[in-house]
Amino acid sequence: HKVIFSGIQPTGVPHLGNYLGALRQWVKLQNDAAPDTRLLFSLVDLHAITVRQDPKQLLQWKNESLAMLLAIGLDPKRCTIFHQSDVSAHSELMWILSGQASTGYLGRMTQWKEKTANEKENSEKLKLNLFSYPVLQAADVLLHRTTHVPVGHDQAQHLEFAREVANGFNHVYGQDILIPPQTLVSPAKRVMSLTHPVSKMSKSHPNPKSRILLTDSDELIQSKIKSAVTDSIEGVTYEQDRRPGDLAADLANISMRVLKEQVSSAVTKLVAPIRERHESIVGNESLLDDVATLGAAKATESAAPTLLQVKRAVGLCR
Ligand code: TYM
Repeated sequence: HKVIFSGIQPTGVPHLGNYLGALRQWVKLQNDAAPDTRLLFSLVDLHAITVRQDPKQLLQWKNESLAMLLAIGLDPKRCTIFHQSDVSAHSELMWILSGQASTGYLGRMTQWKEKTANEKENSEKLKLNLFSYPVLQAADVLLHRTTHVPVGHDQAQHLEFAREVANGFNHVYGQDILIPPQTLVSPAKRVMSLTHPVSKMSKSHPNPKSRILLTDSDELIQSKIKSAVTDSIEGVTYEQDRRPGDLAADLANISMRVLKEQVSSAVTKLVAPIRERHESIVGNESLLDDVATLGAAKATESAAPTLLQVKRAVGLCR
């Protein structure tokens, strides 16, 4: 049977890139799933602390992000929704898998190179958990015997690495213990920034106008799209290299102004019901606590057999 696993960092309110690139697929996979398909979705708080976080802020973001997973339509009866740090097996497996992770491979990962580009001369500032980030991500998926991982395009390299780690482990210990998972890249694989259309939309960009949050009001969405960077070439075409701020063929003869109005109306229609559900859930602490407690228990149970098999294979226990 299929096991679907994916994760999102609770480092702020999820944006339209997260939604179109990943979260919307999660809900679709849930709704279309066969009865024997298992689904797990994690708020990866341990990944979040690979950059410095304010503790109070992080707690609030964990809560808001959990509420958002419910608001988009994930059902805790159907899926296991949990905070990564509630399930210590993730960290344990990560340590063991570190024995399969070459520092050369990790050093070539795009995310590491991008995040460290400015710190090259100052390795005192570069921390180990940012470097080993992909090993924890590999542990996340391998721990639950995941077969399919729905993500945006920026995560494809990390999952390639996870397959490498799984195959390496199986090879060394001579058994098919870990399952190399398939990557499911969503159709909207890379949603771009509104202010800098050659980069992806991201939670960490300093300009809040670069992204649309799933909690933004209609007016805010309209104003962000109105001020979005476009080029001044007439007509609308899709040429990613020459015109990264532009799109599609059935809009060929409309102006940028009309295009922006159409995009605003499509996006506000998509976001409004999510925002409203989020508003009604986010203050309900007892509901969110119940969901997190149930998710932690289910994920702990799901993780146990693989961790035991791995520890046996390595000679850490009988
Ligand atoms: P994160 O939190 O950066 O993003 C969550 C999901 O949103 C997708 N995404 C995008 N898709 C399209 N366009 C964008 N602009 C955009 N920005 C983000 C991401 O591809 C992702 O699917 N390392 C992961 C979290 C993680 C994980 C895992 C994922 C940890 N363990 C195991 C899958 C399996 C991350 O930082 O995602």
